[in-house]
Order: sequence, then C-alpha cells, then structure tokens
Amino acid sequence: MRNVLVTGGTRGVGLAIAKKLAADGFRIFALGRRESPDLEAAIAEMPSGVMNFVPFDLAQIDLIAELVREMKAEHGPLYGLINNAALGTDGLLSNMHNSDIERLVRLNTVAPIVLTKYAVRSMMTSGSGRIVNISSIIGSTGYSGLSVYGATKASMLGFTRSLAREVGRLGVTVNAVAPGFMDTEMTAGLKEEGRVKIAARSALKRLAEVEDVAGAVSYLMSDAARNVTGTTITVDAGNTA
Ligand SMILES: NC(=O)c1ccc[n+]([C@@H]2O[C@H](COP(=O)([O-])OP(=O)(O)OC[C@H]3O[C@@H](n4cnc5c(N)ncnc54)[C@H](OP(=O)(O)O)[C@@H]3O)[C@@H](O)[C@H]2O)c1
Repeated sequence: MRNVLVTGGTRGVGLAIAKKLAADGFRIFALGRRESPDLEAAIAEMPSGVMNFVPFDLAQIDLIAELVREMKAEHGPLYGLINNAALGTDGLLSNMHNSDIERLVRLNTVAPIVLTKYAVRSMMTSGSGRIVNISSIIGSTGYSGLSVYGATKASMLGFTRSLAREVGRLGVTVNAVAPGFMDTEMTAGLKEEGRVKIAARSALKRLAEVEDVAGAVSYLMSDAARNVTGTTITVDAGNTA
C-alpha cells in the first residue's frame, strides 16, 4: 500500500481527503494536534492500519525532519503528501498582532514547505511521488480581512509551480487545489447572510463542499493525473468563473 500523509486530516477538508484517499486504496496518515471523534470513527470504519492518526503540531518546524524520519523508519517512504493544515485567522492588517501574522505564515507557508522538503527526498529517490498543496481562491482573488491568509495561500501557488519544475524529471508531480468557501470549523465565524451572498455570487448558486475538494485531490493522486503537474484545480462552484 502506498503511504500518504494528509496534514490537518483530523477534520474538515483534510478528513474528507483522508477518507477519499483511503477508499482509493492508499494507506493514510492523518496529522493534527488532536484526534477528533470524526477521525476516530473513520479509523474504526476502515480495515486495521489503513487510516492512522499522527499527533503533531506543525508549528514546531524544528521537529519536522525527525517526524518524517520516524515515519519512514516505521512505515516506509511516503508516496504522497497533502499539505492541507492551515490557520484561517482573519483581521484587518492595520490592527493585527505581529504574533498572529507570524503564526499564520509559520503554519500556512513555512511548515508545509519544510515538510515537503523532507518528504520529497524519498519520492525523488524512488522516482515517483505526488504532492498536493491546498491553497484557496483567496490566493488569487481579494477578500477584505484576509490579507495575511491570502498571502500565505498565494505563496503555496508559487511554491507549487517552481517545485513542479524542480522535481518533475524525478517523476514527482506537484499540484495545488484552490477551494472556494466551504462550511468547516475554519469558516464557522461567517454568518448565514455571508454564506448566502457567496453562494449567490457563484455560477452554480451554491457552495462547494469538502467532498468536492477530496475528489479533486483523488484525481491528482490517481494514475489518470500522471501527466498533470505545476497546475491548480479550482473547486469553488464557479465563484471565480
Ligand atoms: N473552509 C474553507 O472555506 C476553505 C476555503 C479555501 C481553502 N481552505 C483551505 O482548506 C484547508 C483546510 O481547511 P479547513 O476548512 O478544513 O480547516 P479546519 O476545519 O480549521 O481544519 C484545520 C485542520 O488543520 C489542523 N491544524 C491546525 N493547526 C495545526 C497545527 N499547528 N499543527 C497540525 N495541524 C494543525 C487541524 O487539526 P488540529 O486542530 O487537531 O491540529 C485541522 O485538522 C486549509 O488549507 C484552508 O486554507 C478552506
């Protein structure tokens, strides 16, 4: 079974991705700080060893190398890495604490880049591997109150394109998925009125769902996508159409 690490796999988008990829036949390592009841249930539903919880705080950048080393020693090399964990802290830039700005950049940009650095090495050695970075439509559109979050999500798009060029010759693909607004804990702060507005602005007059993002990731992880790299799939019910 091929190993795939899904960061932020304990709930929301990451859990949907973890479940879909497990159903596709991958062995999943769902990383987060706490094992949620939903992840526990998903682990119990799957045959033993298919879905696994990896307790880790990605803000601890200096421990990432050791995490990848330990995982490799215990379970073998990674075939796939889904960089999905992120913070969605909002706020007007002029009032934001510098510590909040740093926390966002650390978790949403530095952690996935450093994790990819260590994870991609064994993919390069084996001559195959898949990396999928979860960005956001906010990385290329604007949204008042999300300038720092938007900067981190745009950074993943630039990272995707250049890394795809760097590791392509070694058989590793690197792509991004840019979701629009979906109902998860990250967006729980948005009122119903805001949701209705976003849906009304979308071509399909509805919101995308976490399962739609999981479907796009499943495609990028599949053999059908072997010649797809350095690109972004937008999953937003036509919000940016
Ligand atoms: N929801 C949306 O509308 C939307 C739209 C566009 C893009 N996205 C993107 O989709 C991805 C997932 O978002 P979501 O809505 O599913 O968010 P979420 O419900 O808030 O889930 C975030 C996940 O990240 C994990 N996480 C947070 N801090 C962590 C840390 N320090 N170390 C390790 N794991 C950590 C959480 O687990 P623990 O708390 O247990 O650590 C959780 O599993 C993000 O990249 C987000 O930018 C979301």
